[in-house]
Amino acid sequence: MPSNQAAWLTAKGAPLSIEPAPLLDPAPNQILIKNHAVAINPVDWASQNMGQDLFPFLKFPCTLGLDAAGEVIAVGSAVTRVKVGDRVLGLASGSGRGNQGAAFQEYTLLADNLFSPIPDSISFEEASVIPLGLSTSACAIFQKDLLALPHPSVDPKPLGKTLLIWSGASSVGCNAIQLGVAAGCDVITTCSPKNYELVRKLGASQAFDYNSGTVVSDILTYLEDKTIAGAVGSMFYTHYPYRIEFPSIKTWVLTKKILTVGNVNAIRAGHGLNATKMVLEIVSKAKGNKFVAMAMRYEGPVPDGVESKFILGSALADNEVGAAVYADYLPQALAEGKFIAAPEPLVVGKGLESIQKAFEVQMKGVSAKKVVVLL
Ligand SMILES: NC(=O)c1ccc[n+]([C@@H]2O[C@H](COP(=O)([O-])OP(=O)(O)OC[C@H]3O[C@@H](n4cnc5c(N)ncnc54)[C@H](OP(=O)(O)O)[C@@H]3O)[C@@H](O)[C@H]2O)c1
Repeated sequence: MPSNQAAWLTAKGAPLSIEPAPLLDPAPNQILIKNHAVAINPVDWASQNMGQDLFPFLKFPCTLGLDAAGEVIAVGSAVTRVKVGDRVLGLASGSGRGNQGAAFQEYTLLADNLFSPIPDSISFEEASVIPLGLSTSACAIFQKDLLALPHPSVDPKPLGKTLLIWSGASSVGCNAIQLGVAAGCDVITTCSPKNYELVRKLGASQAFDYNSGTVVSDILTYLEDKTIAGAVGSMFYTHYPYRIEFPSIKTWVLTKKILTVGNVNAIRAGHGLNATKMVLEIVSKAKGNKFVAMAMRYEGPVPDGVESKFILGSALADNEVGAAVYADYLPQALAEGKFIAAPEPLVVGKGLESIQKAFEVQMKGVSAKKVVVLL
């Protein structure tokens, strides 16, 4: 086994420190990869800032990071899909639990149902943008307790239904648009007008500006003669409002206070709670599946007849969706150019030392970009 270094989080709020880390042989259903690029998600810096207030399971010291792309170093005895030397991307589902299954280190163990080979046409930094966005949208769209749509296919059968993805240029949104299309849906989305071209390239048939005062009525007009398959809400709560995603701060009054005083972005028309209310209103007034899969925890009022449920983006590790997406769909879709790595990587540095700076870039907010560090 080679030696390993990891970016360790030793306490809530502590800066990441680069220190040696243990390395295990892969279990029968795992592979070990040498990471070449890792991507940053809001949950990474939120975990650092909030520690166990956010995730009670965090035990210090631990290593964070969910998005990894690299080269296969060792293969568990039950894994048949790849061999040593292959290039793969994967969801590092052990973030915050020790170091073995987290991305922010030199070597990471990945589960057999959470990785996909990368074709030569896709670089490691492009591939690293995929895993958490893909996993979160896959849980939303395919899990039986969420939107329960048919598993993705490179040649989907049209369902005759429209899926609404709120915040289509976000990392979750870019993946959700493509998986919605791969499920056979007509997909519509919201984003800033500068991102219309991107979301159309990903397969959205219509894009709406979530900051326009008429976005709700515009979408409802489009949906007048259509049946909805439900909606995925990946609207953004930044900084302090991130807290409202999780059960540690539950009260609605406090939520509203935080949003009002804490973050101007979150009270812009198309973001945070305002966006959530708009999605719920649209779904309540449209025909079809009145279900919203939410990327953030939402505990406010829901219109009669509408169901809203939180997506746990790593849940596919333990159900049939993981293999349906990472083994049965993504390898072929990437190889045939039917799934695009999006949003575009924004490489902010090289080496584990650059991850702390990368958190700060992500925290300031990005538009249609995924913050990436090369290793
Ligand atoms: N439940 C889960 O398992 C799970 C997993 C992943 C993410 N999430 C949550 O889902 C949400 C989206 O995550 P993500 O990684 O997809 O986000 P992201 O890619 O960082 O989101 C960027 C998008 O949000 C808008 N945006 C950018 N900066 C902003 C700011 N300062 N304030 C408000 N909006 C801003 C932009 O829209 P335009 O450029 O089009 O204007 C951009 O498309 C986050 O709240 C995240 O915590 C949950």
